[in-house]
Amino acid sequence: MIGVSLSPQPSALSRQFVIPASFIQDLLNRVDIVDVIERYVKLRRAGANYVACCPFHSEKTPSFTVSQAKQFYHCFGCGAHGTAVGFMIEYAGIGFIEAVKDLAQSAGMQVPEIRNEQPRGKTEEGDDLYEIMLKAARYYRRQLKDAPRAIEYLKKRGLSGDIAGEFGIGYAPDGWQNLQAAYPDYHAKALLAAGLVIENDEGKRYDRFRDRVMFPIVDPRGHIIGFGGRVIDQGEPKYLNSPETTLFEKGRELYGLYQGRRAIREAGRAIVVEGYMDVVALAQSGIGYAVATLGTATTPTHVQKLLRQTEEIVFCFDGDKAGRGAAWRALENSLEQLIDGKQLSFLFLPEGEDPDTYVRKLGKDAFEKLLPNALPLSHFMLQSLSANVDLNSSEGRARMLQEARPLVKRISAPLLAMMVRKQLAQMTGISQQELDREFQIRSGAAMPAPRRAPPPQQQSIVRLLIELLMLHPEFASLADRSVLDAAAGASAINQSEFKTLKALLAAAASGATIVNWPEFFRDSVHEELLLQIEPGLLKRHEEGWSKDELSAEFRGGWSQLIRQIQLGEHVEKLKNQGLSEHDMESLRALQQHRQIEK
Ligand code: GTP
Ligand code: MN
Repeated sequence: MIGVSLSPQPSALSRQFVIPASFIQDLLNRVDIVDVIERYVKLRRAGANYVACCPFHSEKTPSFTVSQAKQFYHCFGCGAHGTAVGFMIEYAGIGFIEAVKDLAQSAGMQVPEIRNEQPRGKTEEGDDLYEIMLKAARYYRRQLKDAPRAIEYLKKRGLSGDIAGEFGIGYAPDGWQNLQAAYPDYHAKALLAAGLVIENDEGKRYDRFRDRVMFPIVDPRGHIIGFGGRVIDQGEPKYLNSPETTLFEKGRELYGLYQGRRAIREAGRAIVVEGYMDVVALAQSGIGYAVATLGTATTPTHVQKLLRQTEEIVFCFDGDKAGRGAAWRALENSLEQLIDGKQLSFLFLPEGEDPDTYVRKLGKDAFEKLLPNALPLSHFMLQSLSANVDLNSSEGRARMLQEARPLVKRISAPLLAMMVRKQLAQMTGISQQELDREFQIRSGAAMPAPRRAPPPQQQSIVRLLIELLMLHPEFASLADRSVLDAAAGASAINQSEFKTLKALLAAAASGATIVNWPEFFRDSVHEELLLQIEPGLLKRHEEGWSKDELSAEFRGGWSQLIRQIQLGEHVEKLKNQGLSEHDMESLRALQQHRQIEK
């Protein structure tokens, strides 16, 4: 397990010192991703790319693909994706800086560290929110040492000093403006933006957390992004969490994921529990692979994040009605994330127990003995559905089918979906053909569709241009960037894609060597779109497009973009002259039609 770094440690302070993007590109240029991955996984050449069975999920036929030309890997099975640096982080379970240092060393390069100029986590005034959170965590940690009541409480709950240190647990003392001791400028905007203080109507500030045991919430890169604060013994609310800030989005984060990474990889599974204390108590008793949602339901993002790291997720809930309800919501939010070969299951503890009380009473082994008895997702689903109906009547069976249908259709793992349909057919006494017909399942639809590959969307011109630029940045010289200003605001063009295109053109024109684009734009608003487009490059390599062909495609795409921009201007003008929405729709349709004809 990796402790929360409250002392100056590279991972926690990586925002203070960053490695320049140009160095990362140099590094990616010097080390070859194929060599890096081959240290761990046997790769086989397949045309322009390399393939292997994916090290991040279990599979029999290789869908893990490595592009040597563009220095990234992508798994068409589970969606794992990244550069050589990303591979080291995911596979070896190490931090970003560590991974860069490791690779640099193998390439005989010295890592320069410069002062941070990263925009993320910065306020407009230039304050670094990550640093502010870290400062708060250190302050709370120091306060714990002088708070016998809080220490007593943690001891009473069975925690050792070591485990409290591991999770960076601290104490926010009673009083209204204690944080003044930690920040010279208690009135800086950043403290408000970080959610550490509250301002009342008169503009008077006070600490959000008072007289509470503090649990820092850490993101996967080791930065503290929020806190959960528990009252000591009784009081309302029992837990107070940081508000959502630019750093902290509850539906995306899992408490304990950072500390548990390594244990999760080693155990091959993660347990999802409900509370902070459950995670910490499990870790205390030697089960380091538990994570908790932050007082929210389990979201698709949570499931997706975990499935990137492990084969098996066990949701562990209380056996009461609320626990069943939470489990059902977790099930619903998992359906679209399911992958054949990965296992999701549900463990219900005896009434009145939560993982914390259970493991403290009975210990690690007793808890781990429960895990094999967890209900697989498909059982839980069918069992819950059938519990509400009378399967002895036609009406009940019809109702079951009706309720199952939307759920079954959302299951993204084709083989599992088929097994569930088979079972459902048996339970309701119809044949599988009948069921598939009712559910409008096309035969052959059971073939695995690529998972988490970019969502099937129509390729926009802008996306196409981005893809071509990622392949050949030098195409930027074919484009006249001055015409682009007119497109800002054009309704026919997706503005966020458009911004990314502009950023790419500017970067390419600057003459920087860019080996890998998403890495170059790491942590910026462009990163996600570039990651979505990148897998498409594998196909281009595979299909062996020549540079001439690609450049012709780029020119064609570019003139189409110009036409779209001009059309947009035209429509705007007409709108100002009082044309109705309906008229404009017809105009757009007409124009699109013409473009297709051309
Ligand atoms: P302990 O009593 O400390 O064992 O709490 P727990 O971890 O068992 O928490 P519980 O099962 O009561 O709640 C699970 C999780 O829900 C907590 O870890 C919090 O994230 C959240 N939660 C519980 N109570 C509150 C509350 O009053 N307010 C908010 N915002 N969240 C809460
Ligand atoms: Mn509890």
